Amino acid sequence: MKYEVMSEKRVSILGFAGSLRKDSYNKALLRAAMEMVPENAVIDAFDLEGIPPFNQDLEVRLPQKVKEFKAKVRAADAILIATPEYNYSIPGVLKNAIDWASRPYGDNVFEDKPVAVMSASIGALGGARAQYHLRQTFVFLNMHPVNRPEVFLTYAKDKIDIQGNLTDETTREKIKQLLEVLVTWTRELKTR
Ligand SMILES: Cc1cc2nc3c(=O)[nH]c(=O)nc-3n(C[C@H](O)[C@H](O)[C@H](O)COP(=O)(O)O)c2cc1C
Repeated sequence: MKYEVMSEKRVSILGFAGSLRKDSYNKALLRAAMEMVPENAVIDAFDLEGIPPFNQDLEVRLPQKVKEFKAKVRAADAILIATPEYNYSIPGVLKNAIDWASRPYGDNVFEDKPVAVMSASIGALGGARAQYHLRQTFVFLNMHPVNRPEVFLTYAKDKIDIQGNLTDETTREKIKQLLEVLVTWTRELKTR
C-alpha cells in the first residue's frame, strides 16, 4: 500500500527563502527548521540566487538554474517556504521563481504538493500579509498548504543573533510543530 511504502522512507522537503540577502532573517528561519527537522524527514535548501527574470519565450528552453529548481521541486515530497514581506506582499524574487516552476502550461511542478509557510519581518505582523498573498497563489498552483500552526517571526532583528541563529524559543517551538504537521500531512496525502 502507498502509505506503508511512504512510512518507510523519509519525507523529503525542499526549503527555500524568498530573500537573496546574505543575512536574511528568512534564511535564518529555514536554517532553524533544518536543525529541528523530525527524524523521519529531511530538508534540502535551495537558494533562489541566479534565477533570471521570467520570460515566457524561454519556457521551452529553460535557463539552467530554473531547470535545477524545477528538478528539485519535482523530486520533493513537500515544500517549505520562508518569505519576507515586501510592500504587503511577497518579494518579486519568490514570485518569479514560482512562476518559472509553474510553467510551461501542463508542467506545473508544484501540482499536488503539500506546502508549509513561515515568514520573518522586522515589523509587528511578521510577514502575515505576505503569507496570505502566497496562500492565494497556492490555489492556482493546486498545492495543499498546512493551515496551522502559523509561523510569523515579528521584530526579527531582536530574535535572530549576529550569527544568524533564531533565539526566540516560542518561534522555534512553532517551527518544530509546523514541520511535524507538514510531515504528517504529506504522509496522509500519499494515502489518497
Ligand atoms: C522592498 C521592501 C519592502 C518591504 N516591505 C515590508 C512590508 O510590507 N512589511 C514588513 O513587515 N516589512 C517590510 N520590509 C522590511 C522587511 O521585513 C525586512 O527588510 C526583512 O529583513 C526582509 O527579510 P529578509 O531579512 O529575509 O531579507 C520591506 C523591505 C524591503 C526591502
